[in-house]
Amino acid sequence: MAAWLRAYNGALAADLPDDPQWGPERLREYLTVTMPGERRLTWLAEDEAGALLGYGRLLMLDGLGVLELYVVPEARRGGVGRTLLAVIARRALSEGFTSLAVEVIGGTTAVEFYPALGFSHVYTEMRSILPLATVDWTHVQHMAEGIVSGYRIEYHAGDLPDEILTSYAEAKQVRRMDVPGDLDLRPSSYEAERLRSSLRCLRDRGLKPYIVVAVHERSGRVAGLTELVVPAQHPTRADQYDTTIVREHDGYGLARAIKARMLLELRAAETQLSEVQTWHAVEREQLQQVNKELGFRPDREWLEYEIDAGDLAERLA
Ligand SMILES: CC(C)(COP(=O)(O)OP(=O)(O)OC[C@H]1O[C@@H](n2cnc3c(N)ncnc32)[C@H](O)[C@@H]1OP(=O)(O)O)[C@@H](O)C(=O)NCCC(=O)NCCS
Repeated sequence: MAAWLRAYNGALAADLPDDPQWGPERLREYLTVTMPGERRLTWLAEDEAGALLGYGRLLMLDGLGVLELYVVPEARRGGVGRTLLAVIARRALSEGFTSLAVEVIGGTTAVEFYPALGFSHVYTEMRSILPLATVDWTHVQHMAEGIVSGYRIEYHAGDLPDEILTSYAEAKQVRRMDVPGDLDLRPSSYEAERLRSSLRCLRDRGLKPYIVVAVHERSGRVAGLTELVVPAQHPTRADQYDTTIVREHDGYGLARAIKARMLLELRAAETQLSEVQTWHAVEREQLQQVNKELGFRPDREWLEYEIDAGDLAERLA
């Protein structure tokens, strides 16, 4: 675990020098715990003396293999990445996965590596960062209070109450239908159960969830939500990875109010926090506008690449 941490922090320092270094807290859980039904395999590449050169992981989700790969800066361009990828591709194939996906951080060597090995670019998000020291708290307070009548805002730390679980799961699911090709809808009781498991999984991995919800008062349904985690491994930077407004509730300023409320709550609950990072599809202009008003600054692109596992295994054989 210590060697992994040194290697990871070495790669971070080289590739993302402004990102916080990771600590050892809950690291084993972070690397190993998965959702029920999912599996995560890890390979380590070492030199003859046993020093860690790189690692690769394969997360086996429902129908999709997601890989992750890092090589320590001193060992790059020596074929370690290619070797790890070949092992992962063979294993993915033998486990029955036909498609592999990877998230690539813009401005790093990974942007050259994956296309060179035949991966195709499928999706781009922008990561933005908000340094809390620059926040205009009076304005944020004003934004949080600027909620139109007919809605109320709820804040939940760690978990969600039973009453809104199903409606919350549906709200998350609805926006996913906007993404072409991702129409794998299931009955909502199944989704509610998955949601409860995913929150438990986050906590087990040392990622403390915070949630702010906009509830449509007349129907009692969830109209919008924003989710964030404070990771034990880098507790000064929070990850705000999902903000969703159900389409029929678009245009009422809900995203603005819930994101502002989240910041106010975090300021009180996590006093060590110095930054929040968030990701959004480049075409979601409304969310970009809200982020800008809160003081988030675009940092770098996060790109998704995919490849057919069979083609990859053949190419690397
Ligand atoms: C991407 C990465 C895994 C590649 O590992 P690697 O061991 O250096 O890759 P390989 O030596 O196997 O390279 C395979 C091929 O990819 C391409 N490639 C890799 N790095 C490249 C670079 N910097 N520029 C251009 N092409 C590159 C080349 O075609 C190379 O083949 P060649 O050396 O015969 O020309 C490694 O650079 C890495 O870990 N990057 C970190 C990325 C990251 O996300 N960091 C942030 C989080 S810590």
